[in-house]
Amino acid sequence: QKGGFKHFMLKEISEEDEALANTIYAHIQSDKIELDIDEDLLRNIKKITIVACGTSYYAGLTSKYFFEDLLSIPVSVEIASEFRYSKPIFSDNNIFIAISQSGETADTKESLNLAKALGIKTISIVNVQESTIARLSDYVLYTLAGPEISVASTKAFVCQLAMLYLLALKIAQLKGIDVEDYIKELNSIPPILKSEFNHINSEVEKIAKKYSHVKNFIYLGRGLSYPLGLEGALKLKEISYIHAEGYPAGELKHGPIALIDKSTPTFVIAPGIEPFYSKTISNANEVKARDGKIILLSEKYSYIADDFIESPKVSYFFSAFINIVPLQLFAYHIANILGNDVDQPRNLAKSVTVE
Ligand code: M6R
Repeated sequence: QKGGFKHFMLKEISEEDEALANTIYAHIQSDKIELDIDEDLLRNIKKITIVACGTSYYAGLTSKYFFEDLLSIPVSVEIASEFRYSKPIFSDNNIFIAISQSGETADTKESLNLAKALGIKTISIVNVQESTIARLSDYVLYTLAGPEISVASTKAFVCQLAMLYLLALKIAQLKGIDVEDYIKELNSIPPILKSEFNHINSEVEKIAKKYSHVKNFIYLGRGLSYPLGLEGALKLKEISYIHAEGYPAGELKHGPIALIDKSTPTFVIAPGIEPFYSKTISNANEVKARDGKIILLSEKYSYIADDFIESPKVSYFFSAFINIVPLQLFAYHIANILGNDVDQPRNLAKSVTVE
Protein backbone atom coordinates (compact mmCIF):
# COMPACT_ATOMS: atom_id res chain seq x y z
CA GLN A 1 0.00 0.00 0.00
CA LYS A 2 2.85 2.36 0.80
CA GLY A 3 4.55 1.36 -2.45
CA GLY A 4 7.90 0.63 -0.81
CA PHE A 5 7.97 3.90 1.15
CA LYS A 6 8.26 3.87 4.94
CA HIS A 7 5.38 6.32 5.34
CA PHE A 8 2.40 7.50 3.31
CA MET A 9 3.65 11.06 3.70
CA LEU A 10 6.87 10.37 1.78
CA LYS A 11 4.94 8.38 -0.84
CA GLU A 12 2.49 11.26 -1.26
CA ILE A 13 5.25 13.86 -1.62
CA SER A 14 6.90 11.63 -4.24
CA GLU A 15 3.57 11.52 -6.12
CA GLU A 16 3.30 15.29 -6.43
CA ASP A 17 4.49 15.42 -10.04
CA GLU A 18 1.81 12.94 -11.08
CA ALA A 19 -0.94 14.55 -8.97
CA LEU A 20 -0.05 17.92 -10.43
CA ALA A 21 0.07 16.56 -13.99
CA ASN A 22 -3.39 14.99 -13.57
CA THR A 23 -4.84 18.22 -12.18
CA ILE A 24 -3.27 20.47 -14.82
CA TYR A 25 -3.57 18.38 -17.96
CA ALA A 26 -7.25 17.57 -17.32
CA HIS A 27 -8.07 21.25 -17.72
CA ILE A 28 -5.90 22.38 -20.62
CA GLN A 29 -7.06 21.60 -24.17
CA SER A 30 -4.74 23.00 -26.85
CA ASP A 31 -3.75 26.04 -24.80
CA LYS A 32 -7.30 26.78 -23.63
CA ILE A 33 -8.26 26.36 -20.00
CA GLU A 34 -11.48 24.38 -19.64
CA LEU A 35 -13.36 24.77 -16.36
CA ASP A 36 -16.99 23.92 -15.75
CA ILE A 37 -17.97 27.39 -14.51
CA ASP A 38 -20.27 29.97 -16.11
CA GLU A 39 -17.99 32.15 -18.28
CA ASP A 40 -20.02 35.34 -17.80
CA LEU A 41 -19.63 34.97 -14.06
CA LEU A 42 -15.84 34.63 -14.41
CA ARG A 43 -15.47 37.41 -16.97
CA ASN A 44 -17.16 39.95 -14.70
CA ILE A 45 -15.56 39.14 -11.35
CA LYS A 46 -14.69 42.23 -9.34
CA LYS A 47 -13.45 40.62 -6.12
CA ILE A 48 -12.54 37.14 -4.92
CA THR A 49 -12.82 35.91 -1.34
CA ILE A 50 -10.99 32.67 -0.59
CA VAL A 51 -11.73 30.83 2.66
CA ALA A 52 -10.06 27.69 4.07
CA CYS A 53 -8.22 26.18 7.06
CA GLY A 54 -4.64 25.00 7.62
CA THR A 55 -2.70 23.94 4.55
CA SER A 56 -5.63 24.75 2.26
CA TYR A 57 -5.61 28.30 3.65
CA TYR A 58 -1.90 28.61 2.83
CA ALA A 59 -2.58 27.43 -0.76
CA GLY A 60 -5.13 30.24 -1.01
CA LEU A 61 -2.72 32.77 0.45
CA THR A 62 0.03 31.71 -1.99
CA SER A 63 -2.31 32.08 -4.99
CA LYS A 64 -3.28 35.66 -4.06
CA TYR A 65 0.01 36.98 -5.47
CA PHE A 66 -0.64 35.37 -8.87
CA PHE A 67 -4.31 36.38 -9.07
CA GLU A 68 -3.64 40.01 -8.23
CA ASP A 69 -0.61 40.35 -10.49
CA LEU A 70 -2.31 38.72 -13.47
CA LEU A 71 -5.84 40.06 -13.13
CA SER A 72 -5.61 43.23 -11.01
CA ILE A 73 -8.63 41.96 -9.06
CA PRO A 74 -8.56 42.22 -5.24
CA VAL A 75 -8.32 38.83 -3.54
CA SER A 76 -8.91 38.42 0.16
CA VAL A 77 -7.90 35.17 1.82
CA GLU A 78 -9.57 34.37 5.14
CA ILE A 79 -9.28 31.72 7.82
CA ALA A 80 -12.60 29.87 7.88
CA SER A 81 -13.00 29.76 11.67
CA GLU A 82 -12.80 33.58 11.69
CA PHE A 83 -14.76 34.22 8.52
CA ARG A 84 -17.80 32.20 9.57
CA TYR A 85 -18.40 34.48 12.57
CA SER A 86 -17.70 37.71 10.70
CA LYS A 87 -19.98 40.06 8.82
CA PRO A 88 -18.43 39.94 5.34
CA ILE A 89 -19.10 42.76 2.92
CA PHE A 90 -19.91 41.52 -0.57
CA SER A 91 -21.15 43.41 -3.58
CA ASP A 92 -22.12 42.56 -7.18
CA ASN A 93 -19.74 40.32 -9.11
CA ASN A 94 -17.93 39.06 -6.01
CA ILE A 95 -17.24 35.34 -5.81
CA PHE A 96 -16.46 33.07 -2.89
CA ILE A 97 -14.01 30.17 -3.11
CA ALA A 98 -13.81 27.44 -0.45
CA ILE A 99 -10.71 25.24 -0.51
CA SER A 100 -10.75 21.88 1.26
CA GLN A 101 -8.91 18.62 0.64
CA SER A 102 -11.48 16.57 2.55
CA GLY A 103 -14.51 18.65 1.62
CA GLU A 104 -15.78 18.09 5.16
CA THR A 105 -14.05 20.75 7.29
CA ALA A 106 -16.74 22.24 9.57
CA ASP A 107 -15.57 25.86 9.59
CA THR A 108 -15.03 25.94 5.81
CA LYS A 109 -18.48 24.41 5.26
CA GLU A 110 -20.14 27.02 7.50
CA SER A 111 -18.26 29.84 5.77
CA LEU A 112 -19.63 28.55 2.48
CA ASN A 113 -23.14 28.51 3.94
CA LEU A 114 -22.67 32.10 5.08
CA ALA A 115 -21.59 33.22 1.58
CA LYS A 116 -24.56 31.39 0.07
CA ALA A 117 -26.95 33.02 2.51
CA LEU A 118 -25.59 36.40 1.39
CA GLY A 119 -26.37 35.51 -2.23
CA ILE A 120 -22.78 35.15 -3.48
CA LYS A 121 -21.85 32.58 -6.14
CA THR A 122 -19.62 29.90 -4.67
CA ILE A 123 -16.87 27.72 -6.09
CA SER A 124 -15.22 24.95 -4.11
CA ILE A 125 -11.83 23.39 -4.73
CA VAL A 126 -11.96 19.94 -3.15
CA ASN A 127 -10.14 16.66 -3.48
CA VAL A 128 -12.77 14.21 -2.22
CA GLN A 129 -15.54 13.62 -4.77
CA GLU A 130 -19.11 14.10 -3.59
CA SER A 131 -18.00 15.54 -0.26
CA THR A 132 -20.31 17.92 1.64
CA ILE A 133 -18.54 21.13 0.56
CA ALA A 134 -18.58 19.97 -3.08
CA ARG A 135 -22.32 19.27 -2.89
CA LEU A 136 -23.11 22.63 -1.28
CA SER A 137 -21.23 24.83 -3.81
CA ASP A 138 -22.55 26.31 -7.05
CA TYR A 139 -19.45 25.08 -8.90
CA VAL A 140 -16.85 22.45 -7.99
CA LEU A 141 -13.27 22.18 -9.19
CA TYR A 142 -11.85 18.81 -8.22
CA THR A 143 -8.15 18.54 -7.54
CA LEU A 144 -6.97 15.20 -8.88
CA ALA A 145 -4.43 14.50 -6.16
CA GLY A 146 -5.79 10.99 -5.50
CA PRO A 147 -6.40 9.80 -1.93
CA GLU A 148 -4.28 11.55 0.68
CA ILE A 149 -3.79 9.21 3.65
CA SER A 150 -1.14 11.01 5.70
CA VAL A 151 -2.67 13.50 8.14
CA ALA A 152 -0.10 16.07 7.02
CA SER A 153 -1.38 17.40 3.72
CA THR A 154 1.20 17.52 0.92
CA LYS A 155 0.13 16.58 -2.59
CA ALA A 156 -3.27 18.22 -2.04
CA PHE A 157 -1.48 21.55 -1.50
CA VAL A 158 0.25 21.57 -4.90
CA CYS A 159 -2.96 20.51 -6.63
CA GLN A 160 -5.00 23.22 -4.88
CA LEU A 161 -2.43 25.77 -5.93
CA ALA A 162 -2.52 24.47 -9.52
CA MET A 163 -6.32 24.69 -9.56
CA LEU A 164 -6.19 28.27 -8.29
CA TYR A 165 -3.63 29.16 -10.98
CA LEU A 166 -5.81 27.48 -13.63
CA LEU A 167 -8.77 29.56 -12.45
CA ALA A 168 -6.71 32.76 -12.62
CA LEU A 169 -5.51 31.82 -16.13
CA LYS A 170 -9.06 31.01 -17.25
CA ILE A 171 -10.32 34.42 -16.07
CA ALA A 172 -7.34 36.04 -17.83
CA GLN A 173 -8.18 34.26 -21.09
CA LEU A 174 -11.80 35.43 -20.82
CA LYS A 175 -10.54 38.98 -20.38
CA GLY A 176 -8.30 38.66 -23.45
CA ILE A 177 -5.00 38.61 -21.53
CA ASP A 178 -2.24 36.61 -23.24
CA VAL A 179 -1.25 33.79 -20.88
CA GLU A 180 0.47 31.45 -23.32
CA ASP A 181 3.84 31.66 -21.52
CA TYR A 182 2.24 30.97 -18.15
CA ILE A 183 0.42 27.91 -19.50
CA LYS A 184 3.68 26.65 -20.99
CA GLU A 185 5.44 27.07 -17.66
CA LEU A 186 2.64 25.42 -15.67
CA ASN A 187 2.84 22.45 -18.05
CA SER A 188 6.58 22.23 -17.49
CA ILE A 189 6.41 21.88 -13.69
CA PRO A 190 5.42 18.18 -13.31
CA PRO A 191 8.42 16.86 -15.32
CA ILE A 192 10.76 19.11 -13.31
CA LEU A 193 9.37 17.72 -10.04
CA LYS A 194 9.71 14.19 -11.37
CA SER A 195 13.31 14.50 -12.43
CA GLU A 196 14.45 16.45 -9.35
CA PHE A 197 12.67 14.49 -6.60
CA ASN A 198 15.35 11.93 -5.72
CA HIS A 199 18.14 14.48 -5.66
CA ILE A 200 16.20 17.00 -3.52
CA ASN A 201 15.06 14.24 -1.18
CA SER A 202 18.58 13.02 -0.46
CA GLU A 203 19.96 16.57 -0.06
CA VAL A 204 17.19 17.52 2.36
CA GLU A 205 17.58 14.30 4.34
CA LYS A 206 21.29 15.08 4.91
CA ILE A 207 20.43 18.58 6.16
CA ALA A 208 17.55 17.33 8.34
CA LYS A 209 20.02 15.08 10.20
CA LYS A 210 21.92 18.18 11.31
CA TYR A 211 18.85 19.94 12.71
CA SER A 212 16.69 17.22 14.28
CA HIS A 213 17.76 18.17 17.82
CA VAL A 214 16.54 21.78 17.44
CA LYS A 215 13.65 23.06 19.61
CA ASN A 216 12.67 26.24 17.72
CA PHE A 217 12.69 27.11 14.05
CA ILE A 218 12.03 30.34 12.13
CA TYR A 219 10.88 30.42 8.48
CA LEU A 220 11.34 33.59 6.42
CA GLY A 221 10.23 34.58 2.93
CA ARG A 222 8.96 37.54 0.95
CA GLY A 223 6.11 37.67 -1.57
CA LEU A 224 4.64 34.23 -2.16
CA SER A 225 7.55 32.64 -0.31
CA TYR A 226 6.05 34.07 2.87
CA PRO A 227 2.94 31.81 2.89
CA LEU A 228 5.19 28.94 1.75
CA GLY A 229 7.22 29.54 4.90
CA LEU A 230 4.02 29.44 6.96
CA GLU A 231 3.20 26.09 5.38
CA GLY A 232 6.74 24.79 5.99
CA ALA A 233 6.44 25.80 9.64
CA LEU A 234 3.01 24.14 9.94
CA LYS A 235 4.39 20.88 8.52
CA LEU A 236 7.28 20.92 10.99
CA LYS A 237 4.98 21.57 13.98
CA GLU A 238 2.46 18.92 12.95
CA ILE A 239 4.70 15.94 12.59
CA SER A 240 7.98 16.73 14.36
CA TYR A 241 6.39 18.65 17.31
CA ILE A 242 9.14 21.25 16.96
CA HIS A 243 8.03 24.81 17.54
CA ALA A 244 8.24 26.71 14.26
CA GLU A 245 7.00 30.11 13.12
CA GLY A 246 6.90 31.69 9.70
CA TYR A 247 7.26 35.45 9.16
CA PRO A 248 7.49 37.82 6.23
CA ALA A 249 11.26 38.40 6.11
CA GLY A 250 10.82 42.17 6.48
CA GLU A 251 8.94 41.70 9.77
CA LEU A 252 11.99 40.17 11.40
CA LYS A 253 13.28 43.39 12.90
CA HIS A 254 9.82 44.27 14.23
CA GLY A 255 10.04 41.63 16.94
CA PRO A 256 10.92 38.06 15.95
CA ILE A 257 14.64 38.88 15.71
CA ALA A 258 14.66 38.81 19.51
CA LEU A 259 14.23 35.02 19.24
CA ILE A 260 17.42 34.50 17.24
CA ASP A 261 20.38 32.85 18.91
CA LYS A 262 22.75 30.04 18.00
CA SER A 263 20.18 27.39 18.89
CA THR A 264 17.35 28.85 16.76
CA PRO A 265 17.98 28.22 13.04
CA THR A 266 16.17 30.01 10.23
CA PHE A 267 14.88 28.46 7.02
CA VAL A 268 15.07 31.14 4.33
CA ILE A 269 13.09 30.79 1.10
CA ALA A 270 14.50 33.18 -1.49
CA PRO A 271 13.69 32.73 -5.19
CA GLY A 272 16.21 34.62 -7.36
CA ILE A 273 13.85 37.45 -8.36
CA GLU A 274 14.80 41.02 -7.48
CA PRO A 275 14.23 42.90 -5.25
CA PHE A 276 12.99 39.94 -3.17
CA TYR A 277 16.26 37.99 -3.32
CA SER A 278 18.57 40.79 -2.16
CA LYS A 279 16.14 42.02 0.49
CA THR A 280 15.64 38.52 1.88
CA ILE A 281 19.37 37.79 1.91
CA SER A 282 19.91 41.03 3.79
CA ASN A 283 17.35 39.89 6.41
CA ALA A 284 19.15 36.55 6.58
CA ASN A 285 22.36 38.48 7.24
CA GLU A 286 20.73 40.00 10.34
CA VAL A 287 20.08 36.45 11.57
CA LYS A 288 23.65 35.46 10.82
CA ALA A 289 24.98 38.49 12.75
CA ARG A 290 23.21 37.06 15.83
CA ASP A 291 24.79 33.61 15.44
CA GLY A 292 21.65 32.09 13.92
CA LYS A 293 22.21 29.26 11.43
CA ILE A 294 20.73 29.67 7.95
CA ILE A 295 19.25 27.04 5.67
CA LEU A 296 18.83 28.74 2.31
CA LEU A 297 16.38 27.46 -0.30
CA SER A 298 17.00 29.22 -3.61
CA GLU A 299 18.26 28.74 -7.12
CA LYS A 300 20.99 31.28 -6.25
CA TYR A 301 23.71 30.48 -3.74
CA SER A 302 24.77 32.99 -1.08
CA TYR A 303 27.76 32.78 1.25
CA ILE A 304 25.44 33.44 4.22
CA ALA A 305 24.02 29.90 3.91
CA ASP A 306 25.19 27.33 6.45
CA ASP A 307 23.22 24.83 4.42
CA PHE A 308 22.04 25.38 0.86
CA ILE A 309 19.22 23.62 -0.97
CA GLU A 310 19.50 24.48 -4.65
CA SER A 311 16.12 24.69 -6.31
CA PRO A 312 15.63 24.25 -10.05
CA LYS A 313 15.26 27.56 -11.86
CA VAL A 314 11.71 28.50 -12.78
CA SER A 315 10.05 31.92 -12.85
CA TYR A 316 8.89 33.58 -9.62
CA PHE A 317 5.18 32.63 -9.62
CA PHE A 318 6.00 29.00 -10.32
CA SER A 319 8.70 28.74 -7.67
CA ALA A 320 5.94 27.90 -5.16
CA PHE A 321 5.33 24.51 -6.83
CA ILE A 322 9.02 23.68 -6.61
CA ASN A 323 10.00 25.12 -3.25
CA ILE A 324 7.16 23.51 -1.32
CA VAL A 325 8.73 20.08 -1.89
CA PRO A 326 11.94 20.58 0.17
CA LEU A 327 9.87 22.25 2.89
CA GLN A 328 7.63 19.20 3.15
CA LEU A 329 10.60 16.82 2.95
CA PHE A 330 12.47 18.70 5.65
CA ALA A 331 9.56 18.26 8.10
CA TYR A 332 9.21 14.63 7.04
CA HIS A 333 12.84 13.68 7.57
CA ILE A 334 13.09 15.42 10.94
CA ALA A 335 9.94 13.64 12.17
CA ASN A 336 11.23 10.34 10.84
CA ILE A 337 14.64 10.79 12.51
CA LEU A 338 12.84 11.58 15.79
CA GLY A 339 10.92 8.33 15.44
CA ASN A 340 7.51 10.02 15.40
CA ASP A 341 4.32 8.52 14.07
CA VAL A 342 4.60 10.53 10.85
CA ASP A 343 1.31 9.57 9.23
CA GLN A 344 -0.79 9.79 12.41
CA PRO A 345 0.71 12.64 14.45
CA ARG A 346 -0.53 13.11 17.98
CA ASN A 347 -3.68 15.18 18.58
CA LEU A 348 -4.49 15.56 14.86
CA ALA A 349 -7.23 14.15 12.63
CA LYS A 350 -7.28 14.03 8.83
CA SER A 351 -10.63 15.69 8.61
CA VAL A 352 -11.76 18.26 11.19
CA THR A 353 -15.54 18.03 11.25
CA VAL A 354 -16.01 19.87 14.56
CA GLU A 355 -15.36 23.57 15.02
O1 M6R B 1 -9.58 18.97 4.43
P1 M6R B 1 -9.15 20.42 4.55
O2 M6R B 1 -8.29 20.86 3.45
O3 M6R B 1 -10.35 21.32 4.68
O4 M6R B 1 -8.35 20.51 5.88
C1 M6R B 1 -7.87 21.74 6.36
C2 M6R B 1 -6.87 21.53 7.47
O5 M6R B 1 -7.46 20.87 8.54
C3 M6R B 1 -5.66 20.73 6.98
O6 M6R B 1 -5.03 21.34 5.87
C4 M6R B 1 -4.63 20.60 8.11
O7 M6R B 1 -4.07 21.83 8.42
C5 M6R B 1 -3.58 19.56 7.70
N1 M6R B 1 -3.35 18.65 8.77
C6 M6R B 1 -2.30 20.20 7.27
O8 M6R B 1 -1.29 19.29 7.04
